Amino acid sequence: MLLIGGAYEGRVEGLSVAATQEQLNSGLDLDLSWSERDLPERERTNHVHPLRPYLGKYIPQLVEQLFVRHVPTRGRVLDPFAGSGTTLVQALESGLDSAGVDVAAFNCLLMRVKTGAHNPFVLEHELRDALARFERGEGAPGRANAYVRTWFAPQAQEDLLRFRSLLEQYEHADVLHVVLTRAARASTTRRTSACS
Ligand SMILES: C[S@@+](CC[C@H](N)C(=O)[O-])C[C@H]1O[C@@H](n2cnc3c(N)ncnc32)[C@H](O)[C@@H]1O
Repeated sequence: MLLIGGAYEGRVEGLSVAATQEQLNSGLDLDLSWSERDLPERERTNHVHPLRPYLGKYIPQLVEQLFVRHVPTRGRVLDPFAGSGTTLVQALESGLDSAGVDVAAFNCLLMRVKTGAHNPFVLEHELRDALARFERGEGAPGRANAYVRTWFAPQAQEDLLRFRSLLEQYEHADVLHVVLTRAARASTTRRTSACS
């Protein structure tokens, strides 16, 4: 059932169309439908989910309910379009084994970071160490590629690339790369948005 513009009656390319919001609601599974008041943003984006903020983010509570309904105990989950890993994170929370695939390397990095085991003490130490070295002027930025030159001011280009050059030696290099992408996103001269 499809509602267009709030109140429209008829058929669109073979689909029946709800005439009112009530008609539309009557066709919904209300156990899988939440208002902002029922499920506020802070609960939809708990623990690792806000690592990559995105307004159109998939709701983990919906994934949880679908697992309850459709995945047997000790079942396995495959997400072939795994994005930033919302489904994979929820599978972990629900005690299910899971695997994810994505065509975008950055999304694979994100899903690894969000589902991997990290030692928070080592991670904090590494983050502080990388920052201290950055502040001492260590690292070599190398040459910015065309993308970086287009999207970042000269000082931001140098800072981001120099920080990146320090990361490879750390055990939690993947996490530090995600931290770097948050800094990069905050310092870009233009605004964009990417899938979950
Ligand atoms: C809406 S996101 C998926 C969200 C994800 N299921 C979750 O639980 O967070 C769609 C993803 O599909 C990926 N994608 C698109 N075409 C693909 C392809 N041919 N093979 C693998 N991944 C693909 C995109 O890179 C994007 O990350």
